[in-house]
Amino acid sequence: MKIALTYNLKKKDSTKPADYFSECDSQETVNAIISALQSKGHSVEAVDVEPPQVFSYFRQNRVDMVFNIAEGKRGRFRESEIPAILDYLDIPYTGSNTFSLALALNKTLTKKILKAESIPTPDFQLFETGNEQVDPTLRFPLIVKPNCEGSAKGISSSNVVHEEEALYKKVREIIVMYHQAALVEEFIEGKELTIGILENGKTTILPILEIDFADCVASGEYFYSWRMKEFQGNKEMGLLPTFHCPARLDKHTESLVKQTALRTHHAVGCFDISRTDIRLSKDNIPYVLEINLLPGLNPRESNFPIMAYAAGMRYEDLIEAIVMSAMKRRKGL
Ligand SMILES: Nc1ncnc2c1ncn2[C@@H]1O[C@H](COP(=O)(O)OP(=O)(O)OP(=O)(O)O)[C@@H](O)[C@H]1O
Ligand SMILES: [Mg+2]
Repeated sequence: MKIALTYNLKKKDSTKPADYFSECDSQETVNAIISALQSKGHSVEAVDVEPPQVFSYFRQNRVDMVFNIAEGKRGRFRESEIPAILDYLDIPYTGSNTFSLALALNKTLTKKILKAESIPTPDFQLFETGNEQVDPTLRFPLIVKPNCEGSAKGISSSNVVHEEEALYKKVREIIVMYHQAALVEEFIEGKELTIGILENGKTTILPILEIDFADCVASGEYFYSWRMKEFQGNKEMGLLPTFHCPARLDKHTESLVKQTALRTHHAVGCFDISRTDIRLSKDNIPYVLEINLLPGLNPRESNFPIMAYAAGMRYEDLIEAIVMSAMKRRKGL
C-alpha cells in the first residue's frame, strides 16, 4: 500500500515555553514508524503537517491510507485538523475520527460522558474565569490541570493543592498561561495504571502497565507530571520510575481495570488504538483520568509499545495492526 505518515515534529525553539512541543513526535518515532511500515512492504511518504500545504499535498498525491499521529497546530480541536482534511478528501486514515479526537482532548466533556456511563472518574469542577467559588463537596487535595492539553503540559507537583487559596492561585495561573479553562479534580492516591486497547482483528486489551514513582520522591516529583514524562530515565534528576507490565494486580482487579478501559474506549467512540490513564484508589476503584487517542509510539520509551511488547508483539506488528484495522473499517468489514 502507499501510505503517508502525518506528524508534527518536535522542534528546539528557545523562544517558546519549555513544554510547547511536548505533544509532538521525535524524529526517532517518525523514523521507527516509517521503517516498520516499509518492513511490511508498504511505500511510505513522510508528511510533516507543520507547513500549511497539507490540503494541496493530499489533493495532488493520492495515497491508499494515512498513518496519522499528527497533534495538529493549535486550539481545542487541533487533533481533528488532519482527519477533517482527510475526511473531506475521502482518504482513509488510522485511528479515531474528528469527533472522538476533539472530544477526548476536552477532559471535562469526556468526564461527563464517563459519569453518564457510570465509569468512575474523579469528582471535578471546571473553572472558566478563575472567579468561581470551589464546590464545597470536593475534597482536598485537589489537582489543577489545563482542560485541553496532553503530555502532562502544565502539570507539576505544585498543581496538587491542599487549601483554597493555593487552589485559586493555581487555577488563575493555568487559565492565563494556557489560555483555557482549568479542570480541578480530586487527587486520587494510589497506583498509576495505563491500559492500551488495540483493534487487531479483534479488540485486544494489552497487559496493564503500572508506573511506580516510589524511587522518584526525593526529586520532588511523585506522579506522572510534565517533568517526569519529559525527563524519565534521567538519573541525575532522580526521575527513575519503575515500570511493571503486567501490573501487580490480583486477577479480579486486573479484570475490573481492563473492563473500565474498554468501556471508556467504547464510550468515546475510539477506533484502532487508545490508551486510558487510570488511578486505582486505595479502595480499589479504577478512576479514569483521561483517554489518549493518539498515544505516543516511540519504540523505546512510549507506554503503548511497552504494553504491546509485553503482549509478545514486535513494533512492526503493532504498526501493521493499526493499519489493518483502519483498512478493515474502510472496506466496511
Ligand atoms: N485526579 C488525579 N489524581 C491523581 N493523579 C492525577 C490526577 N490527575 C492527573 N494526575 C497525575 O497527572 C498525570 C497527568 O495527568 P493527565 O493524564 O490527566 O494529563 P495529560 O496531560 O492528558 O497526560 P498524557 O501525557 O497522558 O496525555 C497522570 O498520569 C497522573 O499521574
Ligand atoms: Mg494522561
